Amino acid sequence: MKVLTVLGGQWGDEGKGKIVDLLAGRFDLVARYHGGHNAGHTVKYADRHFALHLLPAGILRGKTGIIGPGVVVDLGALLAEIDAVKAAGVTVADNLLLSDRAHVILPYHRLLDAAREKAAGDAKLGTTLRGIGPAYESAASRKGVRVAELYRDATLAARVAAIASESKALLTALGMTDVPSEQAVLEGLGQAARRLRPHVADTGLYLRERLAQGATLLGEGAHGVLLDIGAGTYPFVTSSHCTSASLASGLQIAPRALDASLVVLKAYTTRVGAGPFPTELSDATGEYLRKRGNEYGTSTGRPRRTGWLDLAVGRLAAELTGADAIAITKLDVLDDIDPIPVCVGYRLDGKAVETLPALVEDVARLEPVYEKLPGWKAKTTSVTRFADLPAQARRYVAFIEEKIGAPAVFVSTGPRREETIFRDDLPFAAALPSAS
Ligand code: GDP
Ligand code: IMO
Ligand code: MG
Repeated sequence: MKVLTVLGGQWGDEGKGKIVDLLAGRFDLVARYHGGHNAGHTVKYADRHFALHLLPAGILRGKTGIIGPGVVVDLGALLAEIDAVKAAGVTVADNLLLSDRAHVILPYHRLLDAAREKAAGDAKLGTTLRGIGPAYESAASRKGVRVAELYRDATLAARVAAIASESKALLTALGMTDVPSEQAVLEGLGQAARRLRPHVADTGLYLRERLAQGATLLGEGAHGVLLDIGAGTYPFVTSSHCTSASLASGLQIAPRALDASLVVLKAYTTRVGAGPFPTELSDATGEYLRKRGNEYGTSTGRPRRTGWLDLAVGRLAAELTGADAIAITKLDVLDDIDPIPVCVGYRLDGKAVETLPALVEDVARLEPVYEKLPGWKAKTTSVTRFADLPAQARRYVAFIEEKIGAPAVFVSTGPRREETIFRDDLPFAAALPSAS
């Protein structure tokens, strides 16, 4: 295995940051390939705590980190993150590469995101207000500013002017009049571009060459498969594709380069923002999971919605990504719950339904079918050997593996790097590049 990607199998925040960090030591290169700073990936070890939004988590292990062409980049957010990790002693120098084809999030995009959400009232999506959707819109309408354009003054000025004039018209219609001038935007971009220049590269070319020479690559997926703009709970989704298909397009490498996918599933489910969530618990148990699991957004601090594990969702994610293995995180959060309901399918209008229907109004009407698994009522926090888990916890893991059809190579029992079961006896583990 030379190229592996880690993906979220639910609605985001599954613990991808932790799993990427655990694997990064085995790979030469770690890359973000879609989304932007709407992502928040947590890595904790010893007394260190990092919340990464744009920097690939492998940067913390001294690996080469790549921000690929499929990512939308807020230059100010990236610089702030570089400064923060450097202040914490992490090296960010020529080991960080930023694609010259990546699209830039402009202040207009952020304002449009906010104005649209405000105008939508109760129908808002609950976006992270980072300007992600509008930046991808500019890219798709072929008006976007890419990193490469930042270094061509006349081209940049023309591009910014075009986006500014369209955005101002839209923003005015949406009741927002306080819009920054093009001059101010250009100055801000110019300053940031100067600082980022040493990192800018044709990362597609770099990756194609390195892969041809035998380098290993770990993809760091963002968000989750149910937030995928095509396969997710549309329109309550993000604006990028969140399956393994994005790795190739988002890094500009051949699809056949991908050898394996690893899907991360939380032992229960969370969602932040609006949209249907069949197993949601709006009761004291939901509140208990939020408190016990510390379910507050890494990017926005918003309380996350919580609910039982949904294996119809997990199966869909595994099918869409071709999951070769899974990681189950936050098992410890369920330590005191007994029995533990797990959704294995749904009923809609009296009929059995195995997967999510196309229309969100139908997804919202799904009645989950639960199987109740026995709880273990014992502490699994910090357990590092599978054999040391209580029998019922092992059964919970086996049930998930069976329904998903992929082995759980990681079982996570706490937020920190050290609080992990790595099942090195599984064939998937043996196929991983060796740790360096
Ligand atoms: P990501 O977006 O998928 O990287 O996930 P986030 O970092 O947004 O959210 C996951 C949260 O769960 C973070 O606060 C992690 O520190 C925490 N976490 C990860 N694994 C575990 C675990 O096994 N147990 C507990 N209690 N917390 C975990
Ligand atoms: P990580 O990588 C959880 C959600 C937002 C909102 C919807 C659209 O940390 O798992 P956007 O700002 O992307 O236009 O918002 O998508 N969302 C996430 N939820 N984790 C994420 O990333 C998310 N990225 C986007 O909450 O519902
Ligand atoms: Mg997150």
